Amino acid sequence: MKNINNLLEKSRIYEKENAHIADAYRPDFHVTGGIGWINDPNGFSVYKGEYHLFHQYHPYSTEWGPMHWGHLKTRDFIKWERLPIALAPDSAFDKDGCFSGNAIETSDGKHLIIYTGVVKEFDEAGHMLSETQHQCVAVGDGINYEKVETNPVISVDTLPEGASHSDFRDPKIWREGDSYFCLTANRAADRNGALLLYSSTDGLNWSFVKTFAECKGRFGTMWECPDLFSLEDKQIAVISPMEMEAEGLEFHAGHGVIAMVGDYDKDTHDFNPQWVQAVDYGIDFYAPQTLVAPDGRRIMIGWMRNWATINMRPDNCPIFGAMTLPRELSIRNGRMVSNPVRELEHYRVNPVHYENAKVNGGASFDGVKGRVLDMTVELAENSEYSFFKIKLAKDDLHNASIIYRPKENIITIDRSLASKRIDSVQSRSFEAEYRNGAIKFRVIMDKDSVELFVNDGERVATFLVYNEMAADSIEFESDREVCISIDKYDIKVK
Ligand code: FRU
Repeated sequence: MKNINNLLEKSRIYEKENAHIADAYRPDFHVTGGIGWINDPNGFSVYKGEYHLFHQYHPYSTEWGPMHWGHLKTRDFIKWERLPIALAPDSAFDKDGCFSGNAIETSDGKHLIIYTGVVKEFDEAGHMLSETQHQCVAVGDGINYEKVETNPVISVDTLPEGASHSDFRDPKIWREGDSYFCLTANRAADRNGALLLYSSTDGLNWSFVKTFAECKGRFGTMWECPDLFSLEDKQIAVISPMEMEAEGLEFHAGHGVIAMVGDYDKDTHDFNPQWVQAVDYGIDFYAPQTLVAPDGRRIMIGWMRNWATINMRPDNCPIFGAMTLPRELSIRNGRMVSNPVRELEHYRVNPVHYENAKVNGGASFDGVKGRVLDMTVELAENSEYSFFKIKLAKDDLHNASIIYRPKENIITIDRSLASKRIDSVQSRSFEAEYRNGAIKFRVIMDKDSVELFVNDGERVATFLVYNEMAADSIEFESDREVCISIDKYDIKVK
């Protein structure tokens, strides 16, 4: 199969020549781009028994630019192999960007990508006259992808009245019986987010089915990157809304990620959400996608950044952006919960364990330090203390902390003492409480990133901390005696 024209070939060569950067710039086990900028995960899918992940990609600088699709694959979600860039904005129907989308293995063994092609028109003075977003297909073999001649396969002509032509993007594809379905984000005429449902028998010819969901004044103004999947006996729509208004400690303002959990009628395509929750309570999380693994696990991966915080970045780093650790989803006590993929456990080394350790004031423990680790700290319930702190990536001046206030049932993550000169979102708080007499914090660190899983995934909070790697101490602090256990491992992937 030959689809390499100039722009794609140019980007492939550029990546190959420039991706050899020092290990120090990359996390050890989180996906990054070869070089330059990445945002959303795309096309997260199983193809010929391997997990494929594409991503929004601007290899030529560490800023967002004309979007390409970078490409990797893995067998265990921890060790990834980089593949040649899959898509470049090289055609009339996507000349201003190959935006986010999804992928599926077809019944005849091909890998079908559906993505948003962006086309802008300008006047002679260079002012933009219009922007059109429409859905395009490329079919491939896991390495090379050919854009079909009938692109765009879902044009703006199919849109219901009032739907936006310039905010119409991020298709998610799945199969039900003999049909393909596709859910695409749109901004309705009243500046409300909406999801539009399309169907197809071959993945190439699509017809509009219905407006699947609308935000009706709640949950932002534009919905990006929808996903739809069943989990146990529920149907879940995960959406990344722009311009959300804060609601208590559940939803923060700005770009967030929500899960609408409910029922779905496959005949009428009616979706009835029963509850809506945040997916991650941290600072650096957006635009996640999921796949279902052959063993039935529903696995989610997200962009480990957020548009609100893209100025918060390490100095002179030739790459920007990373993906979260893939997470296993399940439902427990009326909530969607997420936990690190179990494959991570194969890479744990140097176990350190403390039982019934006492913290009263400041405390540190031999062997409990590092920046590439998997650590679980469990606190026994006790009505005396009013705060307990875990200080990570610590040196004399800097740290990033996780603070639990049991009397208020609140956890705060706080990176205001990280070594950055940029003012940005530094802290977030969310609810959490004891379960069966204890509260559990599992912390996954990979150099600059912290992913916190509370009570086996009831709450997750992801945030970046750009401290020098030498800042690798971990300290605990409380205002009264707290009894804790610690299970700590380094993660060794190479
Ligand atoms: C979300 C998003 C998508 C779009 C892509 C462009 O982060 O804005 O809606 O397809 O990024 O890079």
